[in-house]
Amino acid sequence: MPIHPHEENGSHPMASVTSLSASVQQHLATALTAALPEAGSADPLLRRSDRADYQANGILALAKKAKANPRELAAQVVSRVVTGEVIEDIEVSGPGFLNITLTDKAIVENLAARYADADRLGVPFAENPGTTVVDYAQPNVAKEMHVGHLRSAVIGDAVVQLLEFTGESVVRRHHIGDWGTQFGMLIQYLDEHPHELDHKNSRVSGEEAMSNLDRLYKTARRLFDSDEEFKTRARRRVVDLQAGDPHTLATWQKFVDESKIYFFSVFEKLDMEVRDPDIVGESGYNDMLAETCRLLEESGVAVRSEGALCVFFDDVKGPDGNPTPLIVQKSDGGYGYAATDLSAIRDRVFNLKANTLVYVVDARQSLHFRMVFETARRAGWLGDDVTAHQLAFGTVLGKDGKPFKTREGGTVKLEDLLDEAVQRATAVVREKAGKVGLTEQEIEENGRYVGVGAVKYADLSTSAVRDYKFDLDQMVSLNGDTSVYLQYAYARIQSILRKAGEARPAAHPELALAPAERMLGLHLDQFGETVLEVAAAYEPHKLASYLYQLASLLTTFYDQCQVLSPDNPPEVVENRLFLVDLTARTLHRGMGLLGIRTPERL
Ligand code: ARG
Repeated sequence: MPIHPHEENGSHPMASVTSLSASVQQHLATALTAALPEAGSADPLLRRSDRADYQANGILALAKKAKANPRELAAQVVSRVVTGEVIEDIEVSGPGFLNITLTDKAIVENLAARYADADRLGVPFAENPGTTVVDYAQPNVAKEMHVGHLRSAVIGDAVVQLLEFTGESVVRRHHIGDWGTQFGMLIQYLDEHPHELDHKNSRVSGEEAMSNLDRLYKTARRLFDSDEEFKTRARRRVVDLQAGDPHTLATWQKFVDESKIYFFSVFEKLDMEVRDPDIVGESGYNDMLAETCRLLEESGVAVRSEGALCVFFDDVKGPDGNPTPLIVQKSDGGYGYAATDLSAIRDRVFNLKANTLVYVVDARQSLHFRMVFETARRAGWLGDDVTAHQLAFGTVLGKDGKPFKTREGGTVKLEDLLDEAVQRATAVVREKAGKVGLTEQEIEENGRYVGVGAVKYADLSTSAVRDYKFDLDQMVSLNGDTSVYLQYAYARIQSILRKAGEARPAAHPELALAPAERMLGLHLDQFGETVLEVAAAYEPHKLASYLYQLASLLTTFYDQCQVLSPDNPPEVVENRLFLVDLTARTLHRGMGLLGIRTPERL
């Protein structure tokens, strides 16, 4: 009997699907406890395998512990395993491994249940969801965004999507740099040249906003460096700003607003949702800074040293062997980066009730976070029930393996970089557009999705902490581990589904599967477990590699199995359409979690 998919917008919430590996695991555990009661809930160490569908390697260690012969124990387990429904065949191999083959029926039925859950594909929610604050995409006011900000935004966005998908409550925080002494000079300059940021009621583009700010910054800087009197006036403005003088604050706000126009334009280019209320920059913690210092000093966590309020660590020393403290308040009374981060921790733990704090920040700030977290632990703000984690990322390198710079040695503007990626991608899309019959508008839209996807995927497909080379040629290549390869895999399936005419996808558990169908099916079964693991460990690169494998298995499947061949009986066509459609949905879901679109036609 074929299984027909449910209507997509049916009102029944679908139950999550137990994975095949989990049910095999269950079968083994039951047999194991029967064969060796003292094994308790020991892990049979199940792995996907080349020789069978799964291999269990756990018997060896258990036999050793129980002083039993491993092959004998393995044979006893085998004799107790219930076969037929899920497990087709199980046998002892080598010194005591188990090789396990599943029934085709179990595979197809499992996939059919996933297919019926159009939204979550049967992926369960995490067992104990909590509240996580993710601190990511944190550019600085009145400054150009650079590739480091790109990494934080791309990785952070993927982590947010992944966590939300597992049922975690996520609070997004964009800890932008919007406070500090550099604003004195900017505010003073704008006050003396009040029309510099006037838009005369016309809306400015992000690029214009940035160039306005950049021009202003440069002229103010020049004046600051050359004119002693201006310097004095600028310094006074810092004091006014910190004292909350309304006029000074209003001028400061103009810089923040102008910068946001620019930030939002970049985030939009990145095809990423950043919401205004989630932008809580350094200035957002102003009211807490004095209290943070007082609490630290009263508890003795911080001490005065040469006038500054400092926290010392036994294992943090400078090159001269002297301890390097975390400075919470400078000797002139000014608060630094540490004071803001410590206050933010108090806010996130006590007001937002977070169980977990994740900071997606450059690895070069690791010492800062180590000291900040340790300080917060000593102060009792981070208790045993709260985890703080810096998701540190490496440096973006140029093709030459050196930190990414323009030919002139300047920092590369994020916008230029994205524009170039989109331009290259559009050329790639255009080349094939005739065959698919894309309109000019579709070419441009797909060019954007492919270009931005390429940049995101390149960032997300290597482990975050490693440096990675920004190489556009490689990123938009159609072959290899790129987002374009995955996007083509998806679009190719859509094209098959369009060509299928009357034939509809339907699961046929009664059919025998070809080897390439089994491989594809067993991999599709792993999606849920992969997503949960990846979310729990903040490792989007493992989802990228799962998806790349999926696309590769699909390529093998095409080589070995025709979908719409007239030689196929109708049920084979339906079953194969079902397999590729589930593959497409899985690609779409998985790519979506990484922030990458899957165009329907490419
Ligand atoms: N604005 C900082 C920068 O550009 C990153 C902020 C990171 N987040 C934090 N809570 N310190 O380097």
